[in-house]
Amino acid sequence: MVTLLQNPLRVGLQQQRMPEPNIIVFFGASGDLTKRKLVPALYHLKRERRLPPELTIVGVARREWSDDHFREQMREGVEEFSDGVGSDALWQDFAQGLFYCPGDIDNPDSYQKLKQRLEEIDKIRGTRGNRVFYLSVAPKFFPEAIQQLGKAGMLKDAQKTRLVIEKPFGRDLSSAQALNRVVNEVCQEHQVYRIDHYLGKETVQNLLVFRFGNAIFEPLWNRQFIDHVQITVAETVGVEDRAGYYESSGALRDMVQNHLMQLFCLTAMEPPNSLDADSIRTEKVKVIQATHLADVARLEHSAVRGQYSSGWMKGKQVPGYREEPGVDPNSLVPTYVAMKFMVDNWRWQGVPFYLRTGKRLPKKVSEIAIQFRDVPYLIFQSAAKQANANVLVMRLQPNEGIGMRFEVKMPGADLRTRSVEMDFSYGSSFGVTGGEAYDRLLLDCMMGDQTLFTRSDEVEAAWRVVTPALTAWEARTDPSLMPQYEAGTWEPSEAEQLINRDGRRWRRL
Ligand code: BG6
Repeated sequence: MVTLLQNPLRVGLQQQRMPEPNIIVFFGASGDLTKRKLVPALYHLKRERRLPPELTIVGVARREWSDDHFREQMREGVEEFSDGVGSDALWQDFAQGLFYCPGDIDNPDSYQKLKQRLEEIDKIRGTRGNRVFYLSVAPKFFPEAIQQLGKAGMLKDAQKTRLVIEKPFGRDLSSAQALNRVVNEVCQEHQVYRIDHYLGKETVQNLLVFRFGNAIFEPLWNRQFIDHVQITVAETVGVEDRAGYYESSGALRDMVQNHLMQLFCLTAMEPPNSLDADSIRTEKVKVIQATHLADVARLEHSAVRGQYSSGWMKGKQVPGYREEPGVDPNSLVPTYVAMKFMVDNWRWQGVPFYLRTGKRLPKKVSEIAIQFRDVPYLIFQSAAKQANANVLVMRLQPNEGIGMRFEVKMPGADLRTRSVEMDFSYGSSFGVTGGEAYDRLLLDCMMGDQTLFTRSDEVEAAWRVVTPALTAWEARTDPSLMPQYEAGTWEPSEAEQLINRDGRRWRRL
């Protein structure tokens, strides 16, 4: 339990801010992300009085919807996926700023029509030519949409227009480089917001504050005191209705190259000179550039993939990945990935970072566990015969918080020790667990703050780290070679071996 002191640490990241009037254009507006996350996030910001009254949303997608139908759809989204609309008057006020413009990604006429519509709306709503173009479409359409926006001259004003690109940014290193070239042809880097919603999570941003707002941890944050680090992002859900997307992506592209890589960066990077976007992003790039898979020649020693087979979750039988609707029965797409990274620099030489993520695992939990070294020599008799090494766990979700495990003397006449945990929980200290990731990121983008978005060199460096695994796995075309794990269990045996070989174990969560 942690007591809050007066005078909390104030950092630039948390100051109250209000963006300028803007039109946010969502490409892929009839899709899930717009309805479940993006519009509910903007509505939440509106309720919190964090948006200017002129804020306007324009949905673009192929379906022939009217403005009114779009408004109804978005209202459903807010009702179903967030706290609801609350006051009807507030919703009406918000809905007046919602418009829909049907269009095809690859049709130049659609962009001309959109351009004209935006100019009209600009006059009615007083949005002063400020535009955010948000690409929430399938990744294969990114290059086309960006080129077309460029050709239509819609990204020309580098001060007033911004481009948001969802993940995954590219399918591999060369496609990411190609996409960066397309982006660079039509706009400047300061207009580009490569989004990774993990960076919008309160607990992920807290990694920066925890590491660099406290003096006591930094001296321990290195190879001298840390044995290894485990980063876990476990999900209980399966592929759900996203087979179309997931079959062309899989766990490595969907989670490791972006979300887990960001968690790794924030844990391993050097202190930035300041909180400005480029100081932080430069440190992230530096640490990724020093990182590689532990043993590329024997890939199974540093990268393991797996696919869930049929099993039981909460007493219900669930199908295996290959039996899910829309999935190829011989699919080679991994739903689980474990990796071992090594970092060649003074701070981390010799300290492994184990990363794992998977769907249909027993528990939804994301955490970073810093496992400290054993005491050099144990003079006490411990209940477990051997004292447990200290562990610092940063719980990203659920039960957001930080726990530290250490040894204490057990009460009684004998000198025996036991592990206990000191715990900070967001819920009990603040009464809340932090805002939604997309609220924060949309606000930052409108404010022109790129700190929590990925820079072009960073995204390429991240692809470089995982490329040896990607290439090797894509060359294995025999479906029987895909390691399987039963839905509701922790990992394929190959992933256990990956860490057991080093005399370590995955944490059981
Ligand atoms: C998304 C992935 O980016 O992140 C999903 O595409 C995954 O496959 C999701 O389920 C996990 O996000 P969160 O915030 O629930 O941990």
